[in-house]
Amino acid sequence: MENRLTIPEICNKKNLSKIVMLTCYTAQMAKILDNHVDILLVGDSLGMTIYGHDNTLSVTTRMMIDHGKCVVNNSKRALVVVDMPFGTYEADKFKAFDTASKILSNTNATAIKLEGGLEIASTIDFLVTRGIPVMGHVGLMPQKINLVGKFKSVGKNKAEENKILNDAKAVSDAGAFSLILEAMKSELGKKITMSVKTPCIGIGAGKYCDGQVLVVDDLLGLYKNFTPRFVKKYSDLNDIINKSVEKYSKEVRNLKFPTSKHSY
Ligand code: KIV
Repeated sequence: MENRLTIPEICNKKNLSKIVMLTCYTAQMAKILDNHVDILLVGDSLGMTIYGHDNTLSVTTRMMIDHGKCVVNNSKRALVVVDMPFGTYEADKFKAFDTASKILSNTNATAIKLEGGLEIASTIDFLVTRGIPVMGHVGLMPQKINLVGKFKSVGKNKAEENKILNDAKAVSDAGAFSLILEAMKSELGKKITMSVKTPCIGIGAGKYCDGQVLVVDDLLGLYKNFTPRFVKKYSDLNDIINKSVEKYSKEVRNLKFPTSKHSY
């Protein structure tokens, strides 16, 4: 029996308790993370962590639906949010509704996430008023990587800070139920969190946000291509897997595996 957190329950956490969120893309991980987090994000970061691409731009709606379905089917409690892929929502609100409704009806997830500020606010309003819960995403926006050249923190001067604050307000006013703040100074994260009614979930936006999210492969030390400063590694799975597989391959070559214990 499913007893998932709802959008109002997440919204009510603002000023009460921190929202805990992680990315999740696969079945076993969903079963484990579901015991510990409030929100599972099927992020388009899967283009990098699962598919090995350099950025998130080549992720498709098909990929998001397949992984979204898998995460929903293997979790019971956390609210599941699925990212809208690059190119499927920015140009017009009707296309955005088409993509979002396809993702929600095919996965049974509760909400979608999209990146953007002022420029996407009217689309967010269009989706929300038609029954699609939206999580916003401002600050560093990985889908706009080609404009800035590389993944780096944002809000480096007053003008940039004001733009991010205005983006956050526009997304909040448009009806987003929560808002990701990525890669900015703690003070800006704090200012935005205090300025909007929407719960703000930080990734590299400091301790004052209403909640935190990390890419699970970063937290577990699995993804080694690039580690942003805001990542805390809670384990080194890459090393554990390397050592385990090295041992296995040695044992097969030295005839130490399988033994009678592992044979019929
Ligand atoms: O796709 C993703 O993993 C994300 C997080 C960085 C919030 O958008």
